[in-house]
Amino acid sequence: MKIIETVDLKKQYEMGEVFVKALDGVSFHVNEGEFVVILGPSGSGKSTLLNIVGGMDSPTEGDVIFTDEHLSGYNDKQLTNYRRTEVGFVFQFYNLMSNLTAKENVELATEICEDALDIDKILEDVGLADRKDHFPSQMSGGEQQRVAIARAVAKNPKVLLCDEPTGALDFKTGITILELLSKINKTYNKTVVVITHNASIAEMANRVVKMRSGKIIENYINDKPISPERIEW
Ligand SMILES: Nc1ncnc2c1ncn2[C@@H]1O[C@H](COP(=O)(O)OP(=O)(O)O)[C@@H](O)[C@H]1O
Ligand SMILES: [Mg+2]
Repeated sequence: MKIIETVDLKKQYEMGEVFVKALDGVSFHVNEGEFVVILGPSGSGKSTLLNIVGGMDSPTEGDVIFTDEHLSGYNDKQLTNYRRTEVGFVFQFYNLMSNLTAKENVELATEICEDALDIDKILEDVGLADRKDHFPSQMSGGEQQRVAIARAVAKNPKVLLCDEPTGALDFKTGITILELLSKINKTYNKTVVVITHNASIAEMANRVVKMRSGKIIENYINDKPISPERIEW
């Protein structure tokens, strides 16, 4: 079953006299439960696409359909609710509140949604059972990304949208984060979308969407996804 569909998405930025076409007619879909990798070089429109799918930005033209609902028809309140409850975000630089502990960061996110999961259980599942009371500055990059993932999952969204989640991490730590995302895809049954410029990561995906210059140049099902610990880059 389709969970996300984009219909001819276009996004144009006006920079003085110049128009930048960040998205130039992007149509694709994601099925429920898939682990999708959107792959493309820097500047190809990946973040723009993810931000529009996540309701953080709106397209110049086109639409996003999320479980039969058209985001273009949402008013501000519906869009806020969509961002709060339906999608979870993971960013390259974690974006944690530095004055809150790991657990408090997760708690804060769940306060504004109805269907939150058990915070202690999630912190345990992401491997932070004994680091709950640490502040971001007391944690490594990999640990901070685990907090960010726990925070996104705790809201119990249908989809996790991850923008270069391993981009700031060394290779080994990056793999452990991909393992965690894979585990969350399988055990929590969450649809996961990861955007990256790293072609190796595509090998673990069920579906690979390749972008170049604001367009999709390839979209295929990967019949034999490998487990993250076998990825090398
Ligand atoms: N807010 C913005 N204003 C102007 N141009 C932008 C803005 N955001 C992105 N762009 C441009 O749109 C294109 C796609 O950017 P982006 O979606 O960030 O690509 P990626 O995530 O693949 O690196 C780039 O040319 C970028 O410079
Ligand atoms: Mg980007």
